[in-house]
Amino acid sequence: MPVTSREWHLAARPAGEPKPADFALTTTTVPDPGPNQILVRNNWLSVDPYMRSRMNDGESYLPPFELGQAMTGSAVGTVISTGADRVPVGSIVSHFLGWREYALLPAASVQVLDPELAPVQAHLGVLGTTGLTAYAGLKVIAPVKAGDVVYVSGAAGAVGSVAGQIAKRLGASRVIGSAGGPDKARRLVEDFGFDVGLDYREGDLSGRLAKAAPDGIDVYFDNVGGDHLQAALGVMNLHGRIALCGAISVYNSTELPPGPSNLPLAIGKRISLRGMNVIDHFDLAADHLQQTTEWLQDGSLRTAETVVDGIDDAVDAFLAMMRGANTGKMLVRLAPADL
Ligand SMILES: NC(=O)c1ccc[n+]([C@@H]2O[C@H](COP(=O)([O-])OP(=O)(O)OC[C@H]3O[C@@H](n4cnc5c(N)ncnc54)[C@H](OP(=O)(O)O)[C@@H]3O)[C@@H](O)[C@H]2O)c1
Repeated sequence: MPVTSREWHLAARPAGEPKPADFALTTTTVPDPGPNQILVRNNWLSVDPYMRSRMNDGESYLPPFELGQAMTGSAVGTVISTGADRVPVGSIVSHFLGWREYALLPAASVQVLDPELAPVQAHLGVLGTTGLTAYAGLKVIAPVKAGDVVYVSGAAGAVGSVAGQIAKRLGASRVIGSAGGPDKARRLVEDFGFDVGLDYREGDLSGRLAKAAPDGIDVYFDNVGGDHLQAALGVMNLHGRIALCGAISVYNSTELPPGPSNLPLAIGKRISLRGMNVIDHFDLAADHLQQTTEWLQDGSLRTAETVVDGIDDAVDAFLAMMRGANTGKMLVRLAPADL
């Protein structure tokens, strides 16, 4: 039986910070699956910073969202009808047709999940590309060595909260994190095992970072860019390594701000700054999944989720995440009854 489904469309390209009127919740009919297709009822949707870039008209990680079309993104759901023996009804799958209640997909495009391993929504966070980003960033892009001092910005978020803990496992002697607000700064230490949690909203990030890292920083995992990158460059040690993972402080900018004015420091200090895109690191995905599942199961890797309920509030969840309302992974829960 065809199903009625609601899905979020991009109605207008945002100028600066997106507003609710830039999006439209639209009702559509999704047909029965044909041969080798499956029909999925989405249970969890992911909202992520990179989606902001896809709202602009220009190439980013991925092609721009089309105006008047359903947006896409990672999701986890339950197969309710199938035309593919490989993926029976009841399977829990992850896929890329988020932002909607029901998804019709080629069976070959989904990953079938084992719900015994971990809560299934973990595949949108620590067990998925979010966790892989932290893992690849600190193993390959800016590798952590025993004894290193590591700084992570955006540290209370989905990638950052995992990155700090992975840095420790790779032998870092001291891990410093920064995040917005005193509560997040406290949680960095108490919940995620950072040695120091800095609230960047207090100001003078450069001075406070220098105080927190009296012996300098060897590795900087940059989720924020802008003034955070500037502050890190000032404190980096000789031969320091910087993973340029994200620059969320400029994602809503209508004009690109100038680069860090102290960038020439990278010359004298022989710092390497390396951009990364997680899609280059899928060769590590199996290793990451196995390792991270073990850490989750033995309780040594702590994660957090911020959950918003219902398709109606999916855009609000995205906007709130961009403003820092989340600790850990921001998720939209649609139909928990299946799980
Ligand atoms: N290169 C890749 O392949 C790749 C893959 C995944 C993610 N990323 C990047 O990694 C970063 C984190 O992504 P995520 O999914 O883990 O998101 P997240 O950190 O869970 O959520 C975004 C966070 O950004 C912070 N933020 C927003 N505006 C800020 C500003 N002006 N200055 C400082 N912090 C600000 C907010 O936390 P506060 O309350 O602390 O401000 C917010 O919670 C993003 O830059 C994203 O683009 C890159």
